[in-house]
Amino acid sequence: MSAGEAQAPPPEPVALLETAVAAARAAGEHAAANRHRRTESILLERHDVKLVLDVECQARAEACIRARYPQHDILGEEDGSNRPDAPALKETALCPQSRGRILWVIDPIDGTVNFSHGMREWCCSVAVVRDDVILAGCVYAPEMGELYTAYQGGPAACNGTPIGVSAVADLGRSVVTTGLDKKRHPDGPPAPFFHAILAQVQRARVMGAAAYDMCRVAAGRADAYFESGIYLWDIAAAALIVNAAGGRTELLAHLPGGRLEFLASNGRIHDALRAVVKGVPHA
Ligand code: IPD
Repeated sequence: MSAGEAQAPPPEPVALLETAVAAARAAGEHAAANRHRRTESILLERHDVKLVLDVECQARAEACIRARYPQHDILGEEDGSNRPDAPALKETALCPQSRGRILWVIDPIDGTVNFSHGMREWCCSVAVVRDDVILAGCVYAPEMGELYTAYQGGPAACNGTPIGVSAVADLGRSVVTTGLDKKRHPDGPPAPFFHAILAQVQRARVMGAAAYDMCRVAAGRADAYFESGIYLWDIAAAALIVNAAGGRTELLAHLPGGRLEFLASNGRIHDALRAVVKGVPHA
C-alpha cells in the first residue's frame, strides 16, 4: 500500500454499498440474461456443479469493484479454494487476510444447483468486510425481483423498503431453513442437524441458496437459518442484512477447509435453536 493510500480515509459504508449493489446487479443480470446456458458446466460433481456462468458472473462483479476501488482485495467463490491463503480463513472470526484492508467477498451465483435446474431461488451476494466487520452487503435475486441491502449503521431493505425480522418467539412455531452438507456426507443420510431441527420446529426447509435463506429471515418470512459447512461468501452480505433487520447472527464454529457453522435468526428463537444444533454430536 502506498503512503497516499494509507492516508486516504476509508470510504463510507453507504458509498461501498452503492458499488456492492452495482456488482451484484452486474453478476445477476448476466446470469439471468444467459439462463439458456445454465447447464454449461466446468465441473460436474456428484452433489454439486460449477458453471461457466459462475466464473463469468464473478468476473463481471469484480470488474465493477475494480473500476471503483482498484486497491481493495477481492475474495470470490470461484477463486477462494484455489487461493494459497484460503485455509487461513478458519483461523479467525471471518477473514484474517483483510486486517486493516478492505476485502470484497463475492458469491456470483449462490444456489448454483437451483439455477442450473431452472429454479428461481438463486442470488448474487456481495459483501464488504474490514477487520471482521461487515461494512455493506447486497443480495440480489433477479428472478425473485428482490434486491436486499444493508450498510453498517443503516437499515435493512428489500427493493428500497425497510424490512424486519419476524416476531415468532416459540421454536415450536418457527420455520427454519438449513442446508445439507453433501460434500462431508456424500452418501447421506445421516443428516443429523436437519433431523434435530425438524423435531423441534413447526417446519424445516432446505431451499438451496443460503444467502437468500438468510434474506428470508431478514424479511420475516422465515424465523432462522442454520448450516454447518457453509462458506464465508455464502453468508457475509446476508449476515449484515439480518442484523440490520433486527435479527441475530452467530458464527458457531470453524470447520476444516474454511467452512463455517453459522446461525442467523430473528433473535427471539436464537438461543433455543442454538441449543438444538449444539446438542447434535459433531463429526
Ligand atoms: C450453496 C448454497 C446452498 C448451501 C450450500 C452452499 P453455492 O452455495 O448456498 O444452499 O446449502 O452449502 O454451498 O455453491 O450454490 O454458491
